[in-house]
Amino acid sequence: MRIIHQSQKWYGVRSKWFIFLLTLGVTVSILSTNPFPTPDQKKEYSGNDYQNVTVDSHQWYWVMTPSTVKAGQPVAFQVSSADVNHGFGIYDEKLTLVAQTQAMPGYTNKLVHTFDKPGKYKILCLEYCGLAHHAMISELTVE
Ligand code: CUA
Repeated sequence: MRIIHQSQKWYGVRSKWFIFLLTLGVTVSILSTNPFPTPDQKKEYSGNDYQNVTVDSHQWYWVMTPSTVKAGQPVAFQVSSADVNHGFGIYDEKLTLVAQTQAMPGYTNKLVHTFDKPGKYKILCLEYCGLAHHAMISELTVE
């Protein structure tokens, strides 16, 4: 009898605990996505503020126009696909991922990144896209 009474005491705490966890989850989510990692997809990244690079992906190669950009000025990548989904991943010389977005057929994803350091950056595919997925490698030169 006493045991039942004891557990009932915690029923009220349970709803408070739920609200606490919900609040904690929402707060951590908002704080960890600020600034939001994806740029405004509706914005036109044009003019002198951005260097524009068009990225077309195919099984199994990348076409980047141009493939040379300058360090210190934001680069707006317009990424699309001619066939299936690919993953556009930019890696530095130590093969650390610096930026990425999906390459999707019929849609242009915008990715804005400012390169701090000049160098040869590798473009690797981040999504399995068929037999030669692993060979889908290109290079971006940052001056
Ligand atoms: Cu393209 Cu994997």
